[in-house]
Amino acid sequence: MKKVFFTFLTGTFFLLIAWMQPAVPKATMERGKVVYDKACLSCHMPNGLGVPRMAPSLSKSKYVLGTKTKMIRIVLRGSEELPVNEDRDFTNPMAPILNLTDQQLADVLTFVRNSYGNRASVVTAADVKYVKARMN
Ligand code: HEC
Repeated sequence: MKKVFFTFLTGTFFLLIAWMQPAVPKATMERGKVVYDKACLSCHMPNGLGVPRMAPSLSKSKYVLGTKTKMIRIVLRGSEELPVNEDRDFTNPMAPILNLTDQQLADVLTFVRNSYGNRASVVTAADVKYVKARMN
């Protein structure tokens, strides 16, 4: 009985934590999806799962769930920002994507970080500006 109660308590606790995470504004997600459909979908597919051996899945990717800085750099520098080996083998490179405004880039990264089973922090245009200013 004690065990059941304890399980119930921890369950409630984690539900509470999940519930307390601020939701990404719907408008941001919608803007991000528009950019995704134009700039990323052709390779990473509508479901974000990519194509085996061609483009990686963005679902639960450690780069998508990792730091904002790394993710911003991946889009701006493409494959140059990614390891060549490390049990990943994509015959296609990802070209740098340089035709997005800071806001569009922020929106699409926020969208990807919170779609396809991902949950990660929001990226802002200020984040993008900050990273760009420090890129070599
Ligand atoms: C022309 C095809 C193409 C387009 C368009 C494209 N990507 Fe990629 N992307 C790739 C390929 C191929 C890789 C793997 C490259 C490598 O490992 O060298 C990749 C890797 C990634 C990764 C690393 C994921 C991981 O786990 O390895 C992220 C994040 C990513 N892309 C995000 C995006 C976003 C966001 C967009 C749109 C703004 C985008 N990509 C557009 C082909 C593309």
